[in-house]
Amino acid sequence: MKNDNLNPQFIQLIKDATKAPSGHNTQPWKFKVSENQIILKSDYSKRLKVVDPDDHELFISLGCALENLTLSAKAHNLMPNVSMNFKDGYDEIVIDLIESKNMQKDNLYDFISKRQTTRREYNPTPIGKDILDQLTGLEERNDVEIMLFSNKQQIERLTPYIIEGSDLQFANKEFVQELVSWCRFSKKAAQEKGDGLWAASMGFPNMPKPIGSFVMKNFVSAKSEAKRWANLIDKSAGFALFVVKENSKSNWVELGRRFQRFALKATQLNIKHAHVNMPCEEIEVRKKMIADFNLGTRHPLLLVRFGYADTMPYSFRKPTEEVIERVE
Ligand SMILES: Cc1cc2nc3c(=O)[nH]c(=O)nc-3n(C[C@H](O)[C@H](O)[C@H](O)COP(=O)(O)O)c2cc1C
Repeated sequence: MKNDNLNPQFIQLIKDATKAPSGHNTQPWKFKVSENQIILKSDYSKRLKVVDPDDHELFISLGCALENLTLSAKAHNLMPNVSMNFKDGYDEIVIDLIESKNMQKDNLYDFISKRQTTRREYNPTPIGKDILDQLTGLEERNDVEIMLFSNKQQIERLTPYIIEGSDLQFANKEFVQELVSWCRFSKKAAQEKGDGLWAASMGFPNMPKPIGSFVMKNFVSAKSEAKRWANLIDKSAGFALFVVKENSKSNWVELGRRFQRFALKATQLNIKHAHVNMPCEEIEVRKKMIADFNLGTRHPLLLVRFGYADTMPYSFRKPTEEVIERVE
């Protein structure tokens, strides 16, 4: 919709929110705007039915956008009051916004535009404890924990699960089909669509769509991916596994908020990160991790690697007006 007559501050808040990460860069969100309120809703037309059948990654993505939105509110002298409404058929995150001169800007706000998912090799030298404490020591979020794997032995324990998850996904034609449908093989396609996985941000050369699809379907195999992952794991300084106490939409959103703060803090510390979600997505592999790491009834839902590295090209976003709905 057109932005005429909409509060320009609210538009800025939504623009900042949409810079959040989302699975396959689907941007599965809508923002309903009224006078003193923004309602963040899921856009189920962006579901990833194969890789995320229960939508937990969709709600994690909403949590990332919510965290950006609240940081932006505080930076614009607005006090955000968040309530989640997932009962009785509702599916809404309500953010009441009240003007306040006493709001303190959180420095993480300055890193919203600089954050990115960086999919290249990192410097594998371990990162010192004081820096790791800064990375994970931000305030606790209810029902979300971070497990760190920051030395060689710990990382070696994770490795077989990553490879098994990747093997299962790349042996699954439907997974590859869904992935390819979100790949944008040229800059023009990535810019025009404003979503999806642009080849350059994945570390691949730009190419015409038919060639890109052909390469993905015929030359990228479970075997070639396992080899690529073995190298990327070897070139990681550490991993962070995000765990929820139990599965619920609100916990998935909380996990997204916690992860987004981690990602922004990493950006502030000049540390890059990228997702390695296969072992969390493949339910049988997730169960093995739960047993091996004594997680009991808890669920490991998001895995990222991290380390020092150079920046890569940034991914694109849909124009802000496309995700806004106005309430008259
Ligand atoms: C819940 C969630 C799951 C993700 N899973 C993966 C993944 O398995 N592999 C990957 O390379 N990127 C993954 N990503 C990163 C997204 O692809 C990335 O956020 C999106 O392409 C936008 O790029 P940006 O983060 O650089 O802005 C995930 C992001 C989120 C929020």
